[in-house]
Amino acid sequence: MAIGILTSGGDCPGLNAVIRAVVFKADRVYGERVVGFRDGWRGVVDGEAMTLRRRDVQGIAKLGGTILGTSRTNVLDGDPTGSRALASLARHRIDALIAIGGEGTLAGAAELAALGVNVIGVPKTIDNDLSMTDTTFGFDTAVGIATEAFDRLRTTGDSHGRAMVAEVMGRHVGWIALHSGMAAGAHAILIPEQRTSWAQLAEWVESARGRGRAPLVVVSEGFVPEGGDRAYSERGDDAFGRPRLGGIGEIVTREIEARTGIEARCTILGHIQRGGTPSAYDRVLATRFGLAAIDAAMAGDYGRMVALRGTEIVSVPIAEAVGRLNAVPEHRYAEAAMLFG
Ligand code: F6P
Repeated sequence: MAIGILTSGGDCPGLNAVIRAVVFKADRVYGERVVGFRDGWRGVVDGEAMTLRRRDVQGIAKLGGTILGTSRTNVLDGDPTGSRALASLARHRIDALIAIGGEGTLAGAAELAALGVNVIGVPKTIDNDLSMTDTTFGFDTAVGIATEAFDRLRTTGDSHGRAMVAEVMGRHVGWIALHSGMAAGAHAILIPEQRTSWAQLAEWVESARGRGRAPLVVVSEGFVPEGGDRAYSERGDDAFGRPRLGGIGEIVTREIEARTGIEARCTILGHIQRGGTPSAYDRVLATRFGLAAIDAAMAGDYGRMVALRGTEIVSVPIAEAVGRLNAVPEHRYAEAAMLFG
């Protein structure tokens, strides 16, 4: 018998730290074998897996990406009864499956749980959009990368007296933009939760410029301006039928130039935010999630997701975590907006 593990959906710094913690504790405390599925749900459906031994995971907590690979595969796509996934799990003699992922991955986990699979969820996403956990690992690293990039944009912006626009990830929620923008002293932050008008943006930019500053504007990829009806997308849909976002930063830059006459430049950070070594905070959180996930698997605490509540790791029903987004509350945006302009 064995514990299965997979990483699915967009990758995120800290995935390897979870895998390492699960394998270490499974071996050291429970004497249990861990089987890693390749490329998320695709590996489960296709039965592509490998046994993970302690030596396979030594020293990987600091590595970005995932040693298991990942994909945006929908586990029940074209197989609503899950027959292929169930047969594969039985073939590999999996007692319990630890699924590390975001909204889409955990929704798949909840569906498999309903089909009788013993699943434990581990929340990951740089976007920090999952509810029922105070935060997800990967978010802190992404905020750090974005903040460092903005500090650099500000010095070149100052040299040329330009407005600098920086686009960050954040499909449905603006946590990365809010935190990195606050940390870098942005003069405006545009997020999906707030329909800001171009006129308001121009006012903030002109006010910053009026004080002799080179304005820094941070925008989430999912931002929709006042009067708009959907997030900007020009690259078609992904495997889940979700539009591929990216490019709103260029629109923001054009609007600033047209409305204020201030020369502006746009930088889209893109996947740089997801790559590379995880921060110390994310390594610790991911490790604690991994240790709690293997404990939950061994205790038969199935259908649940490990989560951070304050400083403690708890577990919550997966189904409750996937039903609702962790959006930026109004008061948190208002707090940041005090400093705009
Ligand atoms: O992981 C979530 C996310 O970072 C979103 O913010 C972004 O829209 C998406 O991933 C990009 O995914 P992909 O790697 O498939 O382009």
